[in-house]
Amino acid sequence: MKKQFYVTTPIYYVNDVPHIGHAYTTIAADTIARYKAASGHEVYFLTGTDEHGRKIEQTAQTGGETPIELADRVVVKFQDLWKVLGISNTDFIRTTESRHHEAVSEIWRLVEKNGDIYLDEYEGWYDVRNEAFITETQVEEIMKLPEKNRPRLEKIKEESYFFRLSEYQEPLLRHYSEHPEFIKPDYRRNEVVSFVEGGLRDLSVSRTNFSWGIPVPDSEGHVVYVWFDALTNYLTSLGFPRKTGDFEAFWPADIHLVGKDILRFHAVYWPAFLMSAGLPLPKTVFAHGWWTVEGEKMSKSLGNVVDPYQVVEEFGSEIFRYFLLREIPFGQDGDYSRKSLVSRVNGELVNGLGNLVSRSLGMIERYLGGVVPEPAELSESEEKIGDFYRETAQQVRSDLEELAFNRALSRIWEFIALVNRYVDNTAPWKLAKQEEQRERLKVVLWTLAESIRVISLLIYPFLPETARKMREKIGLPTEVDAEDTDWGGTKPRTAIKKGENLFSRITDKDE
Ligand code: MSP
Repeated sequence: MKKQFYVTTPIYYVNDVPHIGHAYTTIAADTIARYKAASGHEVYFLTGTDEHGRKIEQTAQTGGETPIELADRVVVKFQDLWKVLGISNTDFIRTTESRHHEAVSEIWRLVEKNGDIYLDEYEGWYDVRNEAFITETQVEEIMKLPEKNRPRLEKIKEESYFFRLSEYQEPLLRHYSEHPEFIKPDYRRNEVVSFVEGGLRDLSVSRTNFSWGIPVPDSEGHVVYVWFDALTNYLTSLGFPRKTGDFEAFWPADIHLVGKDILRFHAVYWPAFLMSAGLPLPKTVFAHGWWTVEGEKMSKSLGNVVDPYQVVEEFGSEIFRYFLLREIPFGQDGDYSRKSLVSRVNGELVNGLGNLVSRSLGMIERYLGGVVPEPAELSESEEKIGDFYRETAQQVRSDLEELAFNRALSRIWEFIALVNRYVDNTAPWKLAKQEEQRERLKVVLWTLAESIRVISLLIYPFLPETARKMREKIGLPTEVDAEDTDWGGTKPRTAIKKGENLFSRITDKDE
């Protein structure tokens, strides 16, 4: 039986159109999902939209629409973007769907039945942008920011249901120490541990001063706090409250991917809610870093928000995927700059991979009529390529297990560089001129066809469309075959087709 694997992205707020941050998490999740599926897992990959809460309500009001009109309009931009970016999600959840309403009501009831909900009064501050209750100290910090960067704060004093989060301080700390893999990377785990060690206060989990949310079961006038609502999406999609079918197969999740800003919600509140409801906890919450743009914080007021649609229109989705995963170690912050993107495209995609594929296939067409030859005995230099591939494949697998996308890509590109050097050293264009070197020429060109095949396997999770094109060029079925990963699988007598180049050089004026 196949092993199951469940990966999620955060569900994105529909108060705004998608930007590079949303694309980043989703592309990373897609890469893991494809890698797991190609290595024999049954994969469930969830993304979606977070459509309730004060922020959505206010944005809708400002724009003169109802919240559901806003959500219906913006959700399409996310769904379309995922199509454009080749995202292979299993499901797309919207928190305004009735299946979600049902799941949230149920988890609320379970937590309540466990004695963890009580009615009291909340008096304090609410940060609408982050949908978070904040302390006086945090308010002081916020007031130090320039006015235009301050999130909108609301002073509230209202009746509210509370969740006994304070009761979970010890159980959470125990869980972090018994399951060090629960929060990754390690430096993020340390931050969460110190936060929890600092003490947890009970959490307000309902609101009464607005209505755009899921009503608290059996309680007039209260809507469920949007984070309690949103986090539950990871269960809803699997069919919860039913505990059969997908729920049984895929819960607990293997990885929740989140940005560092929302780690606390996923690594403190969420496991506490689940413990209270008597449900198993996700295995890993992985927090990635934030992108700046050309050295500056990305913000609407600076007008530098990177629109993924524009990037894709200019460069194509594969280049966007490649750059985001290659440029920075997953977990750390990094900078999105056009110059760096252009230099990676020209240096790594055009000169590295693109050139290898086009010159190799060009020679098979020119010297061998476009048919993969039967290789005679392989010499030491070909064995070396085979060995290097096996080692690379092994390392790439372990990099992917650790979500070290940039390291995996840099190893794959070392392999590409090795094969490019092999072309230079063996100089097939010279061999082609000497009749007595005919057998040697066939060995070299077979090795190149085989290298293209294995590179397509290595890059598939990152660049699915490029992998597909490469496989088409060498006459293989476009679907990656998990069984055929060992070196040596290229069949002689297959017809190849060089076709168009995989990537085109970007010529910027200031280059
Ligand atoms: N709706 C909540 C998540 C609920 S999950 C149960 C939310 N939505 S969001 O749309 O505001 O943000 C989604 C993700 O985008 C977060 O993981 C956040 O870290 C990420 N990013 C927002 N700006 C970013 C960058 N500049 N760079 C990288 N990721 C960024 O939070």
